[in-house]
Amino acid sequence: MTAQLIDGNALSKQLRAEVAVRAAKLTERGITPGLAVILVGENPASQVYVRNKVKACQDAGLHSVLEKYPATLTEAELLARVEALNNDPSIHGILVQLPLPKHIDDHKVIESISPLKDVDGFHVASAGALMVGEPGFKACTPYGCMKMLESIGYDLRGKHAVVIGRSNIVGKPMALMLLQSSATVTVCHSATPDLAYHTRQADVVVAAVGKRNVLTADMVKPGAVVIDVGMNRDDEGKLCGDVDFAGVKEVASWITPVPGGVGPMTITMLLVNTIEAAERL
Ligand code: GUN
Repeated sequence: MTAQLIDGNALSKQLRAEVAVRAAKLTERGITPGLAVILVGENPASQVYVRNKVKACQDAGLHSVLEKYPATLTEAELLARVEALNNDPSIHGILVQLPLPKHIDDHKVIESISPLKDVDGFHVASAGALMVGEPGFKACTPYGCMKMLESIGYDLRGKHAVVIGRSNIVGKPMALMLLQSSATVTVCHSATPDLAYHTRQADVVVAAVGKRNVLTADMVKPGAVVIDVGMNRDDEGKLCGDVDFAGVKEVASWITPVPGGVGPMTITMLLVNTIEAAERL
């Protein structure tokens, strides 16, 4: 069996076109949806991510400002910038790119963002809303994974989903979203003794570890759906995910590629969250 691809680029194109229509409607009403992106320091991967986020906004007719600061920026200075953006009516979404330099407390900065502008969905208020099934901004990467499952008409009710990874920005919110859709959810992580035991029972596997070949063909039930959140480099420096794509695609029914899978969807859901923030006004 060769799996069908869940094409993140194609789905993103469709969803971003819908965002562009909504952005145009808001702009007609005199509200141009605006996203502020803050980058502190010179992390090369972060530089690429923020550039892509800002460009995607502009392509969809959103207003986007990129604020770049040196790694020497103090925590107090960063908090002051966030506060100014919280009070700026032209800005509907605020994103502080992570990781931040070590001398800055990530949590403190995230909590300083107004929950009304928390388009990353990282604020405790957003995470708490997801936890109790109330409306709020959803973390973009797991939200994008859910949209990919929706795009193939996959009904999660009663299915067994295994999430590999327990980060605050992917693994944990992913598990909650799957649970909200009535899947039975198992969360595996670095202290799970026998990962393959769990993944072999899964109808859906989401790999979000940040390490190559975390999921290989022998660990996948035939016909399972495999979502690869990983963003790694192989020995030749080529982008690859957490999943051994060549092997797993022969066992799975659906699989997301890297690149062209979850990556573009993360940015797409950021645009969706930003437009929703602007529409709420
Ligand atoms: N660093 C890695 N992924 C993300 C993300 O989705 N948002 C932010 N703010 N930082 C990140």
